[in-house]
Amino acid sequence: MTLLALETSCDETSAAVVRDGRVLSNVVSSQIQLHAEYGGVVPELAAREHLKNLLPVARAALHAAALAPPDLDAVAATQGPGLAIALLVGFKAAQSVAFALGKPFVGVHHHEAHLYSPWIWRAPVLGRSDDRSGSGVAAAGDGRTPLVADFDDFQPNVSLIVSGGHTQLVLVESELKHRVLGGTIDDAAGECFDKTGKLMGLPYPAGPVIDRLAVEGNPNAFVFPRPLLNDAGDDFSFSGLKTSVRYFLRDHPALLDDPQKVRDLCASVQAAIVEVLVKKTIRAAKREGVRCVTASGGVTCNRGLRRELAAACGKNHFALRLAENSLCTDNAAMIGILAERKLLAHALLPPLDDEVKPGWALA
Ligand code: KG4
Ligand code: ZN
Repeated sequence: MTLLALETSCDETSAAVVRDGRVLSNVVSSQIQLHAEYGGVVPELAAREHLKNLLPVARAALHAAALAPPDLDAVAATQGPGLAIALLVGFKAAQSVAFALGKPFVGVHHHEAHLYSPWIWRAPVLGRSDDRSGSGVAAAGDGRTPLVADFDDFQPNVSLIVSGGHTQLVLVESELKHRVLGGTIDDAAGECFDKTGKLMGLPYPAGPVIDRLAVEGNPNAFVFPRPLLNDAGDDFSFSGLKTSVRYFLRDHPALLDDPQKVRDLCASVQAAIVEVLVKKTIRAAKREGVRCVTASGGVTCNRGLRRELAAACGKNHFALRLAENSLCTDNAAMIGILAERKLLAHALLPPLDDEVKPGWALA
């Protein structure tokens, strides 16, 4: 089965072609530079960019897969959640293509797609041993082999979705069957990275910058709160941490003039966020009795988070599957892979005139 998938829920315009669980192409056009000037995503600008870029991106995806529209068996798009006017661009375009071709249309929940992105895998290159470490950690491939969905290895897991808009823990009991355990009650983890970075004068999005600076910083230099760490529930809260950084900088303004202190601050803030994410994920996995942890979403690119999750999973004998970096941030490949699984499972599909669902909550 061959599908074209489109993703325009936020600030990435992406199109992918998927065939029988293989990602034939995955083209992503990021708008980060455009929004950086405003310190965050401006919905109207995002939608205009999607309108401008969607056709070239879709063409490029088809071209890279050496296919033409008549070769498609189905068309998929992100239906929600996301920015309404951004979602509309990809969703309505995909419905139109499906209508014109007379093929099925699949509307996909963006976070449900994130849940399965850690199972999209680069097949190991023969003679290399970097795809599976001895600790049971599944790591990203090296970019030389195609991405393939690996659902034969699927096992029940607790999945952490951490991005700029969401922080969620989800129990994935079996393929296409999941239950949300908890989520953030205020800021998402990525938002906390971005907002604390802004307080430090770092450019948007600050998450990757903090990650980079933290490498040479001391994570124990400053102590920040670990919100809800000892709360028995699976919810998260990060706004208190952000406020604590704000007060800290108000009381120590000269600190920002010292590059090493800024690195220490980055490492300390990152350590607080990562500790909460890792400990709550591991605790949920133990309680739910699963043997596998997965993670995806932009913040999963964070090296501190990847390292600490690997260490904690190794210690607790959990298998760990981390989405590879190109699939952590928003992409259409994960939308196409999930859409194909839904078609194969004969899942109920939305009618062709269905609407976007900007506030669609994961059940
Ligand atoms: O998934 P994503 O591309 O977009 C959505 O929010 O849906 O995630 C973007 C978020 C931003 O908050 C960004 O700062 C954060 O992911 N991020 C990181 C890193 N790379 C991206 N945060 C910490 N460390 C990183 N390396
Ligand atoms: Zn996302």
